[in-house]
Amino acid sequence: MYRIGQEEIQAVKEVIETKDFFKVNNSCKAVWGFEEDMKKYFGANYASFTTSGTGALISALIALGIGPGDEVLVPAYTYIATAMAVLATGAVPVVTEVDATLSIDPADIERKITPNVKCIIPVHMNGRPCNMKAITEIAKKHNIFVLEDACQAVGSSYNGKFCGTIGDIGAFSFNFFKIISCGEGGGVITNDQKLYERSCIYHDASAIAFFGEQMKDFSEQGFCGTEYRGNELLAAVMRCQIQKLDGIVADLRKVKKEILSILDGRLPLAPDNDADGDTGNLIAFRFETQEEAQAFNAKIGGMIPLECDRHVYVSWTPIMEKRGALHPLMDPFRMPANQGLRHNYTPDMCPQSLEHLGRTVYLFLHPDWDREEIAKQAQKLLSACN
Ligand SMILES: Cc1ncc(COP(=O)(O)O)c(C=O)c1O
Repeated sequence: MYRIGQEEIQAVKEVIETKDFFKVNNSCKAVWGFEEDMKKYFGANYASFTTSGTGALISALIALGIGPGDEVLVPAYTYIATAMAVLATGAVPVVTEVDATLSIDPADIERKITPNVKCIIPVHMNGRPCNMKAITEIAKKHNIFVLEDACQAVGSSYNGKFCGTIGDIGAFSFNFFKIISCGEGGGVITNDQKLYERSCIYHDASAIAFFGEQMKDFSEQGFCGTEYRGNELLAAVMRCQIQKLDGIVADLRKVKKEILSILDGRLPLAPDNDADGDTGNLIAFRFETQEEAQAFNAKIGGMIPLECDRHVYVSWTPIMEKRGALHPLMDPFRMPANQGLRHNYTPDMCPQSLEHLGRTVYLFLHPDWDREEIAKQAQKLLSACN
């Protein structure tokens, strides 16, 4: 989270003064208001506010009809929640290589497609967009769904379209570490009415069951789901945060552009799928060897993505050790429908990803850096490569 202040305090105060936080009754209508804000901002037909990005991913997968017997391609570099969301539906994640952009490699997607693969989850890590052109073409050719994990990419775009709105359905996170935040929260976004209705039925199950008027215009039949329904207090914060998104992204991009202009091509950058579309929250450098990357990182105090625990498949411990659920019959790795699917996970299964992750160094940026700080950061980078 970058910017929070009096606007959020006032908005939460107004909800508290109603003494009624439930989305259905509350006169502030913050949840429904924020869902309208998301639709308008991202230019999508449907949006839901959920309690987390993980809840948004699971609701989206359920809406796509993913379940036991299905394989879902996930990148080797993503937060563990992406792969755990797949397991929560009873399906199994198939770990797919990332390329030098550190996003899912379209060539490896092609290699990994079998008739069991029902969905691809491209993850726009750190706001850097995936190669959505190649991914959507492959998905179309093989009749596979695309669920965009845009949890780290709220506000980034690919070829002029917001990440999250390019595939069949998208998921956002508004947890504390994200560009805009209410502490914990998430969003489902889609242009498809059927997917929207199903994800609502799943993520807001008890309200749908007991306050049937929400469903009166739905064509999808109700089914049992769970509860990832966002609440009024958090939605009130998000209504303020979304108004700040443009400013935050514009300032991050400005900081990035100014540092790059001082560097003037003197440092090796990692390739991008859409350099203008990323949220600008970091600069990714790429070196010939892991040793060079480590030496550079030691001087700048940045981060080597290979060393970022829980974001690289090798450290997804419960998945690597195949503990997919507490109850054995609920464990996708033991389900009869999943025998014969690919779930033999080994630390060396994605060597290309480990190589790319080890040769990249991130410098994280801040939207409030002034000219002096920008010059200082650029100088630090230039001295580190001498
Ligand atoms: C790429 C990615 N996917 C999913 C999630 C899960 O989001 P949340 O923490 O809101 O459940 C995160 C959160 O950090 C993430 O970075």
